[in-house]
Amino acid sequence: MIREFHNLSLRTRNSFGVEQRAARLVEFESEEELRSLFADGAPERWAVLSGGNNILFTHDYEGTLLTPAARGIRPLETGPEYVRVEADAGVEWDDLAAWAAGEGLWGIENLSFIPGKAGAAPVQNIGAYGCEAKEVIESVRMFCPETGNFLCLAGAHCGFGYRDSLFKRDLRGRVVITAVTLRLGRTPRPRLGYGDLAREVAARGEATPANIRDAVGAIRRSKLPDPAVTGNAGSFFRNPVVTDDEAERLRERYPDMPVYPTVEPGRTKLAAGWLIDRAGYRGYREGHVGVHDRQALVLVNHGGATGEEVLALARRIQRSVYDRFGVALDTEVNIM
Ligand code: EPU
Repeated sequence: MIREFHNLSLRTRNSFGVEQRAARLVEFESEEELRSLFADGAPERWAVLSGGNNILFTHDYEGTLLTPAARGIRPLETGPEYVRVEADAGVEWDDLAAWAAGEGLWGIENLSFIPGKAGAAPVQNIGAYGCEAKEVIESVRMFCPETGNFLCLAGAHCGFGYRDSLFKRDLRGRVVITAVTLRLGRTPRPRLGYGDLAREVAARGEATPANIRDAVGAIRRSKLPDPAVTGNAGSFFRNPVVTDDEAERLRERYPDMPVYPTVEPGRTKLAAGWLIDRAGYRGYREGHVGVHDRQALVLVNHGGATGEEVLALARRIQRSVYDRFGVALDTEVNIM
């Protein structure tokens, strides 16, 4: 069923909880409904608004927002070693993670409790606790308004990188993702190398998908604010990737600074949260907006903030981190 709204408040449709409006928002369920929305040509301006968990609205949106509403989870093939499962774009990502853990399937247990919809997972290649969605995304199904066709792009061709994909680059604004197919394993493959995860899992017994999911939930709750309570969009910035020399220069001055190797030769990833924390912003508050007190990478709306206020704080943090460490922070949240 298509549901259409005009001059709609987006406050409950973005996890920052900022009050901006959309000229038009259309929720669609089936692929035929989606196609029909473009039958007489594309709306002059359109974008996809999924769960709104990685977006900051700084203006009213003057075009049409499209929201996928279908919520099916369909196992396609269940073999002795793996299960292929297709999820509609409107499925809550964590409903999928909960389903997989319940079935004892491996692959997305570390990605438990990430707020957002399944259709958005490939866009920024969601990741947490040493795992990324790209490891299990077999294909992404999408509508291409330019051709009027649906197509499936294999995961290997989605240009996945750290919090990055083709959907953020060449395909940005050109396709509407309708479903994602994952390949989840039956063979145990616990990945517990990140931070305190191994200890949290051991406290729960065996390393099963369900216990890992539970441990991840506990760690997330201890560090990250619940968007249902405090408006936020998770990490506001990406962890910066710098040259090894640059990382070494910083480590000489700040020996306790966390660094992570990357797959790119000669490049090292830094922890943006640590840089922001050391620049003095953890727990900082300025009017309606602030920085989370247990994870400085997360900007929060303490209530009544505008997108402009959040953005002003973000710009100020970027300047401070640059002045202090000479490191540029890129935003990870999509600013509209
Ligand atoms: N740190 C501080 N102070 C802070 C925050 C972090 O010193 O205020 C230090 C930590 O002690 C740790 C390091 O920085 O040594 C990294 O912190 P953490 O393990 O919390 O992870 P992160 O790199 O800040 C990334 C993801 C998160 C994901 C966690 C866990 C990005 C941009 N963020 O954060 O993803 O949950 O790792 O895997 O890559 C998200 O994308 O919205 C998100 C929350």
